[in-house]
Amino acid sequence: MTITPEVIGKNITTQIIGRNILHFPSVSSTNEIAKEIARHRISEGTVVVADKQTAGRGRANRSWISPEGVTACSVILYPAASQLPYLIMIASLSVIRAVKKITGIEAQIKWPNDIQIDGKKISGILIENKLQSKNIVYSVIGIGINTNFNPVQYPDIMEKATSLSVVLGRDVPQVHLLQQLIIELDKLYCSLGDGKMVFEEWRSNLVTLGQHVRATSGDVVTEGIAETVDSDGTLLIRESEGVLTRVSHGDVTLRK
Ligand code: BTN
Repeated sequence: MTITPEVIGKNITTQIIGRNILHFPSVSSTNEIAKEIARHRISEGTVVVADKQTAGRGRANRSWISPEGVTACSVILYPAASQLPYLIMIASLSVIRAVKKITGIEAQIKWPNDIQIDGKKISGILIENKLQSKNIVYSVIGIGINTNFNPVQYPDIMEKATSLSVVLGRDVPQVHLLQQLIIELDKLYCSLGDGKMVFEEWRSNLVTLGQHVRATSGDVVTEGIAETVDSDGTLLIRESEGVLTRVSHGDVTLRK
C-alpha cells in the first residue's frame, strides 16, 4: 500500500496527533522539515512522514540510515514545560505498543529510548526542543523504525541492529504500523495528566534495570548496576563503591 496522507489518515480518529499529515517521498530529515514548519506554528500534532531520508539524524550527532522500508516520521507538539520529561516515555511506549499490535512482537526499551528486540535495535527516537527563556516554543519527536529493511547491508549497524521484517521473516504493512503509532502517541499524549501512569508503564518496559551497565554521558563514564529510574527519567546507577550516581542523558551499554 502506498503511503499517502489520505491512506495514513484513513480510519484513524485521533484528537491531536495525526489530524494533519504531511508526506514526502524523500527528505533530508523529517525532523528538519518538522522544525522548519513548527516555527510557523503549524497545528499541534502535525506528522511529517517520508518514504526515505537522505540525511536522517540520530542522537549525539550520529546519522540514521533511512532508505525506503525504514519508517520515518516526526511529530510537532507544543507541550507545557512540565510535560517534557514524559515525551521520551510516550514515544518509546507508542513504538512498543504499535509493534506489539501490528506484529505480535514484544520489544523492549533500553534506557533512555532505544527500542530493541533480543538485544538488537529496531527503533530510535530523537526529540528536539526549542526553548525561549523557560517556555517551549516547540518539541519535535522524531521516530525511526526499521520495518522492512535488512541491516546486514550496512556494516556500521549490521551487528547491533535488526528490523521487524528480519525478526518476522516477512514484510510488515508499513501504513498500518504508522497508523497504530499515531493512535498510540495520541492516546498517551492526550491522557498524560501528571505522567504517573506513563512513567510506570515506561519503567516496566525498561530492559536496563537490574543490569550491569556502562553509561557514557559526554566524557563521563559511570559503571555499575542500573538500580532504578526517577519519575523524570533519570537513571540511577549503583557503582561498585556503593555510590548512587544519577545519569540524566547519554548512552548505555549492557555489560554481560
Ligand atoms: C537514535 O537512536 O539515535 C535516534 C534515531 C532517530 C531517527 C528518526 S527517523 C525520523 C526522524 N528524522 C531524523 O532525522 N531522525 C529521526
